Amino acid sequence: MFLALLLTASLAEPVAPSLTDQPPDATVVAVALEAASATRGEALIVEYACSVCHITGGGRVAPSFAGIADRAASRRLHMSAGQYLFESIVQPGAYLVAGYANAMPSNFAKRLSQAEIGHIIAYLLTLSVPEGSS
Ligand code: HEC
Repeated sequence: MFLALLLTASLAEPVAPSLTDQPPDATVVAVALEAASATRGEALIVEYACSVCHITGGGRVAPSFAGIADRAASRRLHMSAGQYLFESIVQPGAYLVAGYANAMPSNFAKRLSQAEIGHIIAYLLTLSVPEGSS
């Protein structure tokens, strides 16, 4: 009986907290990243107040962007860093970072153009943790 319970629990474990099985198309992400400017992306993060939660929040309100370029590639199976970041912006509820609520505004897909999303992703992809500091 106990064993059966244990077995069921461990079988249920690997289900990812995902609401969608459709990762963003790699082509869409590649197009958004074409001619993207990290400098523009950094400015957009302030303009759209992403920084309020992600930078000023100090990691309590939302995950810090520091080192996100390194984490993004391994957050979701079969998703490149670019695809994961794209999904995180246009569909924030699809995957929740452990320890955080589904509190990110879900309307950025409407408020941002594809090009603006590209700029933001290009900037986030520059945020690696310097070698030896983690
Ligand atoms: C009201 C607060 C808030 C604002 C504003 C906000 N976010 Fe978020 N964001 C969150 C929270 C909370 C999470 C963690 C839950 C989740 O995974 O959706 C998150 C998750 C993310 C992640 C995944 C982080 C990781 O470590 O995997 C990315 C990327 C992201 N946000 C980008 C953005 C960008 C870009 C903007 C602005 C266009 C933005 N966010 C605006 C609250 C916010």
